[in-house]
Amino acid sequence: MEETQHTLIVGDDATRFAARMGFTETSLTNVRSQTRWEEWAAKGEPTDAFNPEPFDKDELRGHDTVGTIALDAAGNLCVGCSTNGREFKIPGRVGDSPIPGAGAYGDQEVGGAVATGNGDVMMRFLPCYQVVELMRQGMPPDLACQAALKRITDRGYKFGGGIAAIGVDGQHGGAQAGWDDGGFSYSVRDASGNSKIWVSPQPTR
Ligand code: GLY
Repeated sequence: MEETQHTLIVGDDATRFAARMGFTETSLTNVRSQTRWEEWAAKGEPTDAFNPEPFDKDELRGHDTVGTIALDAAGNLCVGCSTNGREFKIPGRVGDSPIPGAGAYGDQEVGGAVATGNGDVMMRFLPCYQVVELMRQGMPPDLACQAALKRITDRGYKFGGGIAAIGVDGQHGGAQAGWDDGGFSYSVRDASGNSKIWVSPQPTR
């Protein structure tokens, strides 16, 4: 968006565009992911992604999404989201991470939000957009994250997901759904370099 008027460029053309912009193409496969894929491929089972999204349980594994929100002293805000996507996905799948409002969203006037978890479900609801809009109306970040996740669970989805958010005033919070083992935390690093890990409270139902 700093180099063109476009917001999203995808597929092979995105790879070519990135190379034109000076990025070096490199494989993101590592020994662990290659081994897991080879073990799965050897079984000859089709990916479970051909089945409709289950409403009764979420056994989806293989997510490694990292969201970041940066807020400087002048109030400049930016959000970022990086992910391996989803294990054994159907080629061509687009997850929530690159979709504005789904995996991440930021508004200089309000704050930002980032999400991790089952992007196939979460992107249907643009939860990060909802969090920022709720904060715009005055809701604290933790309650806004809970409300965005509750909107999904209220529709019957049993999914695993977490959202972290921060307002331009520095107030931050997070919430999670579906991870009964308390598997969602986020860290905050302040200007002096001090970090603290925050664990979100009970899962949103
Ligand atoms: N949350 C990352 C993904 O589902 O692709």
